[in-house]
Amino acid sequence: MDRIRLRGGRPLDGSIAIGGAKNAALPLMAASLLTPQTLTLGNVPHLADIATMAHLLQQHGVDVSMDGGNGTPEGRTIHLNAGTITSTVAPYDLVRKMRASVLVLGPLLARFGEAEVSLPGGCAIGTRPVDLHIMGLKALGAEIAVEGGYIKATAKKGLKGAVIRFPMVSVGATENLLMAAALAEGTTVLENAAREPEITDLCDCLIAMGAEIEGVGSEHITVHGKPSLQGARHQIVPDRIETGTYAAAVAICGGRVELTGTRIDLIESVVDKLREAGCSVDETPRGMTIARNGSRLRGVDFLTQPYPGFPTDMQAQAMVLMTVADGAAMITETIFENRFMHVPELARMGANIVVHGSSALVRGVPKLTGAPVMATDLRASVSLVLAGLAAEGETTVNRVYHLDRGYERLEEKLAACGAVIERLKD
Ligand code: EPZ
Repeated sequence: MDRIRLRGGRPLDGSIAIGGAKNAALPLMAASLLTPQTLTLGNVPHLADIATMAHLLQQHGVDVSMDGGNGTPEGRTIHLNAGTITSTVAPYDLVRKMRASVLVLGPLLARFGEAEVSLPGGCAIGTRPVDLHIMGLKALGAEIAVEGGYIKATAKKGLKGAVIRFPMVSVGATENLLMAAALAEGTTVLENAAREPEITDLCDCLIAMGAEIEGVGSEHITVHGKPSLQGARHQIVPDRIETGTYAAAVAICGGRVELTGTRIDLIESVVDKLREAGCSVDETPRGMTIARNGSRLRGVDFLTQPYPGFPTDMQAQAMVLMTVADGAAMITETIFENRFMHVPELARMGANIVVHGSSALVRGVPKLTGAPVMATDLRASVSLVLAGLAAEGETTVNRVYHLDRGYERLEEKLAACGAVIERLKD
């Protein structure tokens, strides 16, 4: 398995191109199942999770072709045609690799009246049930049984619009229900819907496919179902978590970097915190710049919340910044119950962190020291790369396949800005 080796202590200087959002691309690819015509997506990031979703869709019979964009800021374009579907079953072997596979449930059920999707099972960051997806689809009239580890759903007479109030905010459940409602008969109202930019991106694409949706970007979304949808072309929104991660890299290393192909309005809660901690962040015509010169980072508190609050997918990166900040910081995780897996690894690098339930008290230390480390999920892994960039001496991050699920050419992008970082192939 590949490893990343890095040597800390160098400021970053230059520019980094941000790709399309992984977490927008995955539901958008699933949306191709809603139409027999071709859906073309631009700005698709080159990531392992995208390949897994392409593989799953091919297994359903979707014709998937990709072109262009190798290494360019525009990324790859992917054409998806679900004109002929050969299977409505999403098997365990694929779903267990990537939980977002469950996003094929809503579209398959809405268009074909049946779907069988393996339950995803446990995950490193929490139990992550899919009960809200099931509750919402049942409200649209689906009959659903969970048998042999599979969600078996049927709606022989089609889905019917309904009012669905989510008891808690769920990105994935909102996406599955939006896609299902687009082909349901009548009107569906989603209350307490997720408002993440990836949801807005999905709504924009569904509208381009002929869906009628009101309240896009709000917690109250109304979908007037259509008997069929058509093909469309859609450009994927920039990845706000990739943006925030590289901003955090500059915050911890110092220096000045322009992040291009992104938008500051996607990560306002992160920008506010970076400024509070002592960084300067400015909008540019191509994206944004982030800089920290001289002064040490200041300790600030973080509380993860659904969008527009501070994202859970930036919690590990924020914690690393606080490990070397002046003062203490309280970091509270409200979305996932087990998302502090990076804490013991950071402690091995000299961080002073005490966890009490869903909060971590981080007392800043003057420096971290390099060590061999590994993590069990994507964002925890990248937080260890950030820690290595700030640490004295050499750090090796193992289990790089986690990073490859969500960060394209991470080591190249950082090395181009002066970081001493390389991938060791095994
Ligand atoms: C999405 O996961 C993202 N994944 C996650 O990104 C992200 O951390 C998460 O949203 C929160 O922002 C994709 O978009 C592919 P949720 P999702 O449903 O949709 C509970 C990354 O690193 N819940 O909003 O699975 C759940 O357990 C990943 O890129 C239920 O209880 O998240 C969690 O506590 C990791 N029942 C909370 O809701 C349900 O039926 C929010 O989960 C569904 C969710």
